[in-house]
Amino acid sequence: MARVITVIPGDGVGPEVTAATLRVMEEAGAELEVERQLAGVTALKELHTPLPEETLDSIRRTGVALKGPLTTPVGTGFRSINVAIRKEFDLYANVRPALTMVPGGRYEDIDLVLIRENTEGLYVGVEHYIGLQGDPRAAAESVMIVTRFGAERIVRYAFEYAKAHGRKKVTLAHKANILKCTQGLFLDVGREVAKDYADTIEFEDRIIDAAAMHLVVDPYQFDVLVMENMFGDILSDLMAGLVGGMGLAPAANIGKETAMFEAVHGSAPDIAGKGVANPSAFLLAGCLMLEHIDQPDVGRRIRDAMHSVLQRGRELTGDLGGRASTEDFADAIIRALR
Ligand code: NAI
Repeated sequence: MARVITVIPGDGVGPEVTAATLRVMEEAGAELEVERQLAGVTALKELHTPLPEETLDSIRRTGVALKGPLTTPVGTGFRSINVAIRKEFDLYANVRPALTMVPGGRYEDIDLVLIRENTEGLYVGVEHYIGLQGDPRAAAESVMIVTRFGAERIVRYAFEYAKAHGRKKVTLAHKANILKCTQGLFLDVGREVAKDYADTIEFEDRIIDAAAMHLVVDPYQFDVLVMENMFGDILSDLMAGLVGGMGLAPAANIGKETAMFEAVHGSAPDIAGKGVANPSAFLLAGCLMLEHIDQPDVGRRIRDAMHSVLQRGRELTGDLGGRASTEDFADAIIRALR
């Protein structure tokens, strides 16, 4: 039976990469019934709100959203819709795989997964200025929030992910040497949770700055990494760099009831509407979604087909040095499926 999913094509290149992705998924045999919904600038223009109630209702009903990039106006206008969706559905785990797909990069055969806590830390946005001697912005203060509940559920998620995906090791990266309370709590909770998996999965902890250095010097020593929000934000982009940049980076945002899948890149206004966007990251997000909704074989077929098209290097989009359009690239993947 077809699984109902919410699809938000989004802004900029979103509709182009969404069309290509849905076409490939259908050809690969995905059993999906799509509820198309609006969000972002597109929704603002058509429905006068960047996050319509219908969109939220659809995600609530289906429990799964495949979401294109959404433009966030800088400085003025509405707040990030991505953040609003994450908060609304308590999508606490941000899963960022970094897998080598294009040969000839700085490293070969990278296969890492970073699991980032998505709801706490400094990004809760509890901050303010402190005025002194007539200067209203003499200082600024920001509060990092770590709860036992939040730390436990993200570390447990990392171990469960490792178990489900046949991974061998979880590395918890932290700064407990300096931030004794917030990071100390995160580390202590992590060590406790690790005991429940001691028979099957190796556990280690690393100080975040050393982890960053080791990821560049010898990424192969890592497997699954888990960390708080801001550290995860930074290191997940570093890891995307290990495998050729953001153009190929997908992300899953997982909550208890709901999950949202997206490309890491934005709406790329500079190339929007030209039909030249690379759909790979969104397609890889689609593969993560297929795995989540128990259609992993379809996801694997798509990934294998993409891999062969990228390896061959004949139908690459401009960002990868080729001249293919979004649709040419999708056609090549569809041919490789057969
Ligand atoms: P961006 O990722 O949209 O673009 C950065 C550069 O990468 C541009 O040169 C663009 O052409 C290129 N690029 C991005 N995606 C590509 C693709 N699929 N194929 C080929 N080239 C691609 O980042 P930028 O310019 O900082 O942000 C643009 C808008 O997107 C902003 O409004 C921002 O808020 C939003 N954004 C949304 C995200 C989301 O919805 N998850 C994530 C990041 C940014």
